[in-house]
Amino acid sequence: MTVSSTDLRTAMGHFATGVTVVTALDGERPQGITVNALASVSLEPPLIMIALDRKRFIVPTIDASGRYAVNILTEDQQWLSDCFAGANVSPNRDAFCGAPWHPGVTGLPILEGAIASLECVVEDVLPVGDHRLYVARVEACADGDDAAPPLLYHRRRYLRIERATTARLAGKPESPAG
Ligand SMILES: Cc1cc2nc3c(=O)[nH]c(=O)nc-3n(C[C@H](O)[C@H](O)[C@H](O)COP(=O)(O)O)c2cc1C
Repeated sequence: MTVSSTDLRTAMGHFATGVTVVTALDGERPQGITVNALASVSLEPPLIMIALDRKRFIVPTIDASGRYAVNILTEDQQWLSDCFAGANVSPNRDAFCGAPWHPGVTGLPILEGAIASLECVVEDVLPVGDHRLYVARVEACADGDDAAPPLLYHRRRYLRIERATTARLAGKPESPAG
């Protein structure tokens, strides 16, 4: 039995995620792409992973530079998600969406207003199916505005948090790290 890409997208669409913009440097030029395929992989050493379609425009830049940053978006940054996903807007993705940014501690582009950012060095690239998995060591991370609600993605639409409640995990101590 084969599962079509549509069936897989529909099923996986029920798995709600946050939304990030992954940034990299092409020489001195910042580039960015919207990504929700992000996973935390290891705490010691600190490793995360992103999955990119091998045809994404930013793949050659990340392959050449061996570095990327993950910027976790707030609800107010939905326009950045659209633009960095290649929406027909002005300024467009070729112009870094006109997004305000600053160099992080490793020099990677960090978007102003991101809830959190992680600056990474690629440790392993795994070509898998039509995607490439980039396992990377986190060299620096920064917390922005804790109170800002994250932009969420669910069933191919943005999901906004209204009247949200949170609940403790059974048997786990509360920790600021979350
Ligand atoms: C919310 C959201 C999440 C996305 N997550 C990913 C992802 O994890 N990996 C990926 O390769 N593309 C992802 N995309 C798609 C790319 O951002 C977008 O299709 C791509 O930038 C199109 O440009 P390109 O194919 O010219 O590079 C996502 C798009 C959106 C809107």
